[in-house]
Amino acid sequence: MATIAAERLSFTRLPHPAPANAEARAAVLANPGFGSHFTDHMIVIEWSEGRGWHDAVIAPRGPIALDPAAAVLHYAQEIFEGLKAYRQADGSIALFRPEANASRFNSSAQRLAMPELPEEIFVEAVKQLVAADQDWFPTVEGGSLYLRPFMIATEAFLGVRPAKEYKFIVIASPAGNYFKSGAPAVSIWVSQYTRAAPGGTGAAKCGGNYAASLVPTAEAFARGHDQVLFLDAAEHKWIEELGGMNLYFVFADGSLITPPLTGTILPGITRDSLMALARDEGLEVREERYSLDQWRADAQSGKLVECFACGTAAVVTPVGKVCDENNEFVIGSGGPGQLTGKLKARLVAIQRGEAPDPHGWVLKL
Ligand code: PLP
Ligand code: COI
Repeated sequence: MATIAAERLSFTRLPHPAPANAEARAAVLANPGFGSHFTDHMIVIEWSEGRGWHDAVIAPRGPIALDPAAAVLHYAQEIFEGLKAYRQADGSIALFRPEANASRFNSSAQRLAMPELPEEIFVEAVKQLVAADQDWFPTVEGGSLYLRPFMIATEAFLGVRPAKEYKFIVIASPAGNYFKSGAPAVSIWVSQYTRAAPGGTGAAKCGGNYAASLVPTAEAFARGHDQVLFLDAAEHKWIEELGGMNLYFVFADGSLITPPLTGTILPGITRDSLMALARDEGLEVREERYSLDQWRADAQSGKLVECFACGTAAVVTPVGKVCDENNEFVIGSGGPGQLTGKLKARLVAIQRGEAPDPHGWVLKL
């Protein structure tokens, strides 16, 4: 197999000895949950110093062999993305803003000293996997095919420096609701732990950020909450983001605030999309620091009427309740708010091809 030039892609399709049988697949697709079922195939592309990106395959999904000294296993040189493919109203399949994920993947690669992947290869790899696994779209309401592109450092070397060999892999997972509880609004635990500090890796989508979030997340679950909220590292005062989602605050005057992208939070593609949709509606959206104390005061005074979390996996999810060691407060009625519902409906209609796509976000296969 030859080195891949971005403009001359060639993916070799390896035969699958035993794809899932139709009955087992149908059972999964009727009730996929999130993240525990996988499709038949995966994409793998190799990178090495000197050769660059080469050997792209569509392979049967399965274990990958790694040397026990592979750098990813020791120094966590790993980045990933998350995006979805949607079955459209007309039966076709489309991806939502894959170029935005490709671009963020390269920002993460830069931060983790990894090779960048040409955006067209990223998008083509995702398209090839969706085409190979197009029988894996959930039949459940709100279902989609979640794509997880990632890159790992595979070089066997224990010195601490950027590795000289990597694998880019894409796997796919039929997805339903992210939150198991199925509650109309989620409950948030405000963590004492810090997720990211200025100058750190908070804006990169690297596995290490999530490893560091697991203790606070487990703490949130143990206390009966659905997600953990992180405050800023310096003052422990300003709202940053949830473990896997960005946040929006909706005020009684119809305006919205979302925390600014200062390098410590993930620049969410759903966050960006909702900002555009809210502005399309004529609403004022400010990217502005907002403190936990102000949030509590505004929720109690009625100045703040809604709050929602947003991300690829969670889509748009209302936040009903917020708790920390000392306080607990409810937002609005504690259930889904009106504007939250409206923005979610607008976003989902575009993603599913049920409404016009004025921003050119939908990429049909
Ligand atoms: N913040 C974190 C920490 C995330 O893991 C995610 C999910 O990817 C998001 C925010 C939302 O990003 P996006 O809307 O691009 O999925
Ligand atoms: C996503 O929404 O794609 C994420 O990566 C978040 C994760 C919590 C599943």
